[in-house]
Amino acid sequence: SSLLRSVKTLARPTTARAYSVDSVPSRKVTVLGAAGGIGQPLSLLMKLNPLVSQLALYDIGGTPGVAADVSHINSRSEVAGYMGDDQLGQALEGSDVVIIPAGVPRKPGMTRDDLFNINAGIVKSLCTAIAKYCPHAIVNMISNPVNSTVPIAAEVFKKAGIYDEKKLFGVTTLDVVRAKTFYAGKANVNVAEVNVPVVGGHAGVTILPLFSQATPKANLSQDDIQALTKRTQDGGTEVVEAKAGKGSATLSMAYAGAIFADACLKGLNGVPDVVECSYVQSTITELPFFASKVRLGKNGVEEVLGLGPLSDYEKEGLEKLKPELKSSIEKGIEFAKKN
Ligand code: NAD
Ligand code: LMR
Repeated sequence: SSLLRSVKTLARPTTARAYSVDSVPSRKVTVLGAAGGIGQPLSLLMKLNPLVSQLALYDIGGTPGVAADVSHINSRSEVAGYMGDDQLGQALEGSDVVIIPAGVPRKPGMTRDDLFNINAGIVKSLCTAIAKYCPHAIVNMISNPVNSTVPIAAEVFKKAGIYDEKKLFGVTTLDVVRAKTFYAGKANVNVAEVNVPVVGGHAGVTILPLFSQATPKANLSQDDIQALTKRTQDGGTEVVEAKAGKGSATLSMAYAGAIFADACLKGLNGVPDVVECSYVQSTITELPFFASKVRLGKNGVEEVLGLGPLSDYEKEGLEKLKPELKSSIEKGIEFAKKN
């Protein structure tokens, strides 16, 4: 027992240092749209993240309540709520990571592109404020249509002269989360061990899961692969229909958004080998924006990773998605240039 005691004594300082708040850098995270269906559970999950020291919750309404509620949780970050245009600057000032789930969600029968008219304007005004108040922050774009809102953000930042392609991310993590869940069910493997890259974009056929690269390996039939691909591509619509007019995915999206923001924070803090799929400025195809595996680091994107070997079915899917993704990108760029 005295040996045990000395081992414990030896172990204590190391453990204490490893978990000491002092050794974890201060990081401010801002959520824009924090009172919404995604914003509220996402704010909760960010409050639980020990890498966050300051959590700023902004929306056009409702944030005092959300912030008061979340702030009572006994975790590291200090929480503040901000409401309305005149408090947006304060919400953004000094922010390291800005997460944007602001905007309207789909109802049954709508495509994500049907949200363009409303959400493009929201994203443009929020990104204008980001350029002014925290030009060096990492931006996690959740607002749909992601295929267009990311190019809009890039144009706004270019106009403001602060665009850094390494810091702008379209959040496609929910597609990966779905692909993992559906694959594990079909392949009958432990979902906690599953990895599946999802590339392309974030709408219908532009979502291309690469099940040929899924691990652990399973001998699925081509019919199974096609069904899994379709279910992943239609995952958002499955939720929209089940919610029957009450919006789209919020809880699974909050989870996915929290995973991606955590990866960005780890990258900023110098944790090695942080890799997630994301929709970023890219040269791995002829399209200027494309989702693929990305290595995250101290400056945001450290490396955009290639597609890896594709099956014939995936090669076909890749060619099929390009025209739609291209036109969504052009639509976003055109909007930002005109407005
Ligand atoms: P919601 O309507 O429940 O919440 C949106 C929130 O945004 C509201 O609280 C609203 O007040 C706020 N808002 C509106 N204009 C704003 C502005 N100018 N500034 C700040 N806040 C503003 O919607 P939701 O279900 O949370 O979805 C939000 C967006 O996320 C939608 O566009 C949806 O399509 C998208 N989404 C994306 C993914 C993805 O995988 N990337 C997944 C799910 C949903
Ligand atoms: C999703 O994939 O769940 C989101 O993009 C929301 C939607 O409209 O489907």
